[in-house]
Amino acid sequence: MISFAGITKRYDDSTVAVDGISIEIPSNQLTVLIGPSGCGKTTTLKMINRIVEPTAGQILIDGQDIRDFDIKDLRRSIGYVIQNVGLFPHMTVKDNIATVPRLLKWERSRIEERVMYLLGLVGLEPESYARKLPKELSGGEAQRVGVARALAADPPIILMDEPFGAVDPLTRVKLQDEFARVQRELHKTIVFVTHDIDEAIRLADRIAVMRSGRILQYDIPENILSFPVEKFVHDFMGSDRALKRLSRVYVADYIEDVKVVSISQGWNQVGETKEEFMWAIDKDEKLIGWVDVFHSSREASIESTLTEVAREEILQPDSTVKEALSRMLESGTVALPVADSTGKFLGQISLSKIQELTRSDKE
Ligand SMILES: Nc1ncnc2c1ncn2[C@@H]1O[C@H](COP(=O)(O)OP(=O)(O)OP(=O)(O)O)[C@@H](O)[C@H]1O
Ligand SMILES: [Mg+2]
Repeated sequence: MISFAGITKRYDDSTVAVDGISIEIPSNQLTVLIGPSGCGKTTTLKMINRIVEPTAGQILIDGQDIRDFDIKDLRRSIGYVIQNVGLFPHMTVKDNIATVPRLLKWERSRIEERVMYLLGLVGLEPESYARKLPKELSGGEAQRVGVARALAADPPIILMDEPFGAVDPLTRVKLQDEFARVQRELHKTIVFVTHDIDEAIRLADRIAVMRSGRILQYDIPENILSFPVEKFVHDFMGSDRALKRLSRVYVADYIEDVKVVSISQGWNQVGETKEEFMWAIDKDEKLIGWVDVFHSSREASIESTLTEVAREEILQPDSTVKEALSRMLESGTVALPVADSTGKFLGQISLSKIQELTRSDKE
């Protein structure tokens, strides 16, 4: 745990960059510092690895004042992804990533192995990327290398300052998803600075909303969205807070069990029903499409009345409810099928179920 106790930073007599912050940042979780430009996020981050020294207050890591550590040991035990990547331009990708392991005098073979492992972990083909120079990388690739470099010596704590800042929105979402996967595996204590609220909601276990050097609210994302403590937080989260909340809930929890038809059987299986349409499965219980029960002639075979559903239109249990809603709006339907990764039908998620969900957690 990283504890801030009454931390203030004044750069000169007039600028109070950080104004009496006290928070506890839990271990093995990702904590986001968010707020407008100039609110003190980078300053807060840099005080943890003592690049900036506080004017007043105390920072503790697992109960020990960070001033009691040898500063070199402290820095080497904390990975740091600086704002705007900051790779060393004349060093190869491999040498950039190997910086801290070299300082720690690891053996060559161990460093080699570690670099290759990390490149793979961040989604870069190790053999071809290790030898490149930073100028030969795209923005997204450079950001991946920045993350790999911070992870190099396997530090328990990682500070990330807008690590996915300088890339297009699509690449950004991809990097976030990949990084979320890495974090699920590694469980590092991460302090992550951003001013992108969607990024914060996607990645954070806890969010601290900052303004003018102070923390206005510090809580789990769901509570920040549902119960903003003041107007600034409310406005900062945006007018689409209800939609944002849906990106924190997963289809798995809203699957409805519904009757299905098996295309290998006849209409008898349907019998009397008020359903207008039904999902159709094959003999292996794989979803293949839907049939219009209301309008179809019972003379024709079920198979001939089938409308197929493309694989990419089928939701998986780990899809977000926001994604489900977005797809419904796009396709003009009120329900979508859910299947597991093998294609086995699990049920459906419907617009009415999503409305129930958003109504029930309104403030
Ligand atoms: N080295 C410095 N000397 C003087 N003032 C500084 C210094 N670094 C930061 N400041 C000031 O401290 C305040 C907080 O800066 P900080 O870099 O922490 O903001 P930030 O929240 O990271 O902003 P951004 O989102 O733009 O990166 C700002 O008013 C800034 O001008
Ligand atoms: Mg900053």
